[in-house]
Amino acid sequence: MLDTAGFNAALAAAEKVVDRGPVGAATALRSAGVDPTLAAAALTQATLRRAAVGKFGAAAGSMFFTRTGLEQATRAPVSTARAARLARAGVTTVADLGCGIGADSRAFALAGLSVLAVEADPETAAVARANLRGLDATVVTGDATTVDLSAVDAALCDPARRTAGGRRVFSTAGLSPPWEFAVGLLARLPFAVLKLAPGIPHDLIPAGAEAGWVSVDGDLVEAALWSPSLAEVPRRATVFRAGTAHELTGPGTVQAPPGGVRRYVFDPDGAVTRAGLVAEFAETVDGVLADPQIAFVYADRPARTPFARCLEVVDEVPVATKKLRAALRAHGIGRLEIRKRGSAQDVEKLRHELRLSGDGSGVLLLTKIADRSAALLCRGGE
Ligand SMILES: C[S@@+](CC[C@H](N)C(=O)[O-])C[C@H]1O[C@@H](n2cnc3c(N)ncnc32)[C@H](O)[C@@H]1O
Repeated sequence: MLDTAGFNAALAAAEKVVDRGPVGAATALRSAGVDPTLAAAALTQATLRRAAVGKFGAAAGSMFFTRTGLEQATRAPVSTARAARLARAGVTTVADLGCGIGADSRAFALAGLSVLAVEADPETAAVARANLRGLDATVVTGDATTVDLSAVDAALCDPARRTAGGRRVFSTAGLSPPWEFAVGLLARLPFAVLKLAPGIPHDLIPAGAEAGWVSVDGDLVEAALWSPSLAEVPRRATVFRAGTAHELTGPGTVQAPPGGVRRYVFDPDGAVTRAGLVAEFAETVDGVLADPQIAFVYADRPARTPFARCLEVVDEVPVATKKLRAALRAHGIGRLEIRKRGSAQDVEKLRHELRLSGDGSGVLLLTKIADRSAALLCRGGE
């Protein structure tokens, strides 16, 4: 259906009316004489294209999606950076094992690599084929675990994850292709990369592999394991801000220097904390940890950094709810963002109990200082 002239005409019509909402758009297409089944499929596609702009920018307008395929697809800046790194390493042919709608395959092909894309689900494979049309890519519908990889020098495997009741708990058990197959690629092929959920425990990282965590505009989106042949450092945090990548690297085992609360506090990006690179970040702002287990970094000077949000500490306030309420009233805080590291507080319950009122705004950090519970009222920070 994706490449018939009738569908493309219906899709063009659907894109013009999609903003009218499902009922308005369907009515408009019906009055324009579009067959109802074609209209429904075209409207779904037009809606998905709109939703895909955040991940693919303007390119979304000429791509095809399934709902699940879009959810699972790698964002363009991340796949583009991955493809560029493989190309720099000298890779010329790559297999994308479980290619979904082909977002990573597309980035590989656009970087000049020859792509063998394998997808088990026939509908998703058809969408990948449409997205890779005209590029140096072959899409095979089938099981990635049985594909002959003798003609490629690299592989990417981005297994689908089964989520347990929507909970984001990392489990190797729910991966497809399976974990054993995916992790085996790191040693089996000259070059390999695995894309995994950011919750991957560090003890699953094979010796010699590089583990990187990636965030895009504050959202922690993936972890990637790079085969020893591609590894440059043990741990990497890649933070994309407005399309630009910023990187911190290190062994992931360094402890930041201890110290007291200072005038400014930095709340590091999830890619930095997951990669175990808080010490490397702290060094960039001359910062210290007020508790060795907690990743708030304190410093005397503010700084604009892609790796953390910078807040100014206004006051240490009591932790106990009644006294905290009184302290926030005294500061005139009516709008409060609550962040916690090292606190078991139920934030929504606390917010309700605080009964905030006042014209001021602030950020409350619930944390630990030298192993005791603490609350810091802060301001500023983007
Ligand atoms: C997370 S998605 C890949 C997304 C892709 N990297 C992208 O950016 O568009 C994983 C895909 O692997 C497919 N898959 C799962 N098990 C597979 C297998 N054994 N062989 C081939 N494909 C498989 C799923 O159908 C799913 O489309």
